[in-house]
Amino acid sequence: MKFTIKTPAEQDAMRRAGRMAADLLDFIEPHVQPGITTDELDRLCHQHMLEVQKTVPAPLNYRGFPRSICTSVNHVVCHGIPGDKKLKAGDIVNVDVTPITDGWHGDASRTFAVGTVALSTERLINVTYRAMWLGIKQLRPEAHLGDIGAAIQQYVESEHFSVVREYCGHGIGRTFHEDPQVLHYGSPGTGMKLQAGMTITVEPMVNVGKRHVRLLPDGWTVITKDHSLSAQWEHTVLITDTGFEVLTLGAREREQGPPQ
Ligand code: MF3
Ligand code: CO
Ligand code: CO
Repeated sequence: MKFTIKTPAEQDAMRRAGRMAADLLDFIEPHVQPGITTDELDRLCHQHMLEVQKTVPAPLNYRGFPRSICTSVNHVVCHGIPGDKKLKAGDIVNVDVTPITDGWHGDASRTFAVGTVALSTERLINVTYRAMWLGIKQLRPEAHLGDIGAAIQQYVESEHFSVVREYCGHGIGRTFHEDPQVLHYGSPGTGMKLQAGMTITVEPMVNVGKRHVRLLPDGWTVITKDHSLSAQWEHTVLITDTGFEVLTLGAREREQGPPQ
């Protein structure tokens, strides 16, 4: 499938969809506490989407995915299936949400610390967050897709962490995953050129140890091969005439702006 350019009206629809994803993450954040199960986080998000937002959870039944959100704990890289295990202090959990609003998808995720976490764990969360933003700051018409991956990879590896290669960002719109693929590693000046009106996600997965991953037999859960911790952050972004507009900013980011 070819990538799509959104008309101004479609860009507005994507703004509304992105805002729903951000609001949903703002809603769930205070519930991420020691003792809660990821099933309970899924329930709360599911209810909030259907009853408060009047949105539809894209993950539910997507290629057979059995829940309304993804929850990836500790060495789970992505696509973790909510279950009955309780979160405990010191864990990290990525919550990835994709509500559909009037047929349009907003896709965002954040990695939360559960209670107090080790300083080294906090560093992983923060490096991954900054890596996402460094990728986003490359976005403008005429920039190459490879510029995004290069910025992310260079920074992550300078911090002695590794970038997962098997999963990537993507175009997004009426379709959950559309072209182009947005790699989180690569070389500047390579890959297709971006154009105003494209909407894509930037969602690096960063491991403390080696970059290699393994898919569990459930067909969804991706873990680090070496069982080291992994974090991820994701925003949905519109390419504008002058650069970019992040469509999934949370309340804190709308107030404080991007890092540094
Ligand atoms: N939200 C994920 C992404 O960022 C995709 C999850 S697919 C699911 O692209 F089926 F696991 F929900
Ligand atoms: Co995504
Ligand atoms: Co996502």
